[in-house]
Amino acid sequence: MSPLLRLSGVSVSYGPVAAIRDISLEVNEGETVALLGANGAGKTTTLRAATGLAPLMAGQVTFADQDITGWRTYRIVRAGFVHVPQGRAIFADQTVEENLLLGAWSLRDRSRLLALLEREYARFPRLAERRRQLAGTLSGGEQQMLAIARGLMSDPRCIALDEPSLGLAPLLVREVMEAIRQLNASGITVLLVEQLATVALAVSHRAYVLQRGRVVLTGTGAELLASPELVQSYLGVGS
Ligand SMILES: Nc1ncnc2c1ncn2[C@@H]1O[C@H](COP(=O)(O)OP(=O)(O)O)[C@@H](O)[C@H]1O
Ligand SMILES: [Mg+2]
Repeated sequence: MSPLLRLSGVSVSYGPVAAIRDISLEVNEGETVALLGANGAGKTTTLRAATGLAPLMAGQVTFADQDITGWRTYRIVRAGFVHVPQGRAIFADQTVEENLLLGAWSLRDRSRLLALLEREYARFPRLAERRRQLAGTLSGGEQQMLAIARGLMSDPRCIALDEPSLGLAPLLVREVMEAIRQLNASGITVLLVEQLATVALAVSHRAYVLQRGRVVLTGTGAELLASPELVQSYLGVGS
């Protein structure tokens, strides 16, 4: 069976600066795959290239047996692949529910809206309790849950999450990772970008490590976790 998502030889430049070079990776349906690397390694650019937000200089992206290279983002979302950006990008002066409904813009069948909303409220009970509250009044952890739930409102087969742990206290990081583990268990394929390698590996089947825009290491979560010195040498102390 071919992978759900495949990047082959993908390169992206910002002007004269090459951000990622010749990136190849595969994500199989049902997996959680981590994309690890230090700040500036090219993780966000890789996600942006995969979801139509950064133009490719070279390479190809396929999703669900379709060549999606060069597709606009809205089409990729409709095909079942959504990207939750780094920094969450929730609308602080709108309610939790309004934010969630915005995530469903791509739905063609509007009759499914309420069912999807209830599905996310069941998955994230704290969002249900706060559905009429302005999103800006949520805690950092709750805002991250909201950003993820908003992405899930497009009913994706695959969700790419860019540094969901960013700025969260350790206890909240654990909660967010548990939520990711559960959404993967519910059948959604996850591409998880993280700087916190050990945290991400604990919920991932496999991982790719980026360094200066290239894939330098890949393996199962267990393999990479078993070689902390290897991870440390690529990711630095504290990861
Ligand atoms: N909009 C941009 N313009 C110019 N350079 C950028 C831009 N975004 C990222 N870069 C550069 O591309 C490289 C990869 O960045 P990024 O993908 O954001 O890495 P990461 O997400 O791993 O921190 C870095 O050298 C960064 O400085
Ligand atoms: Mg980034």
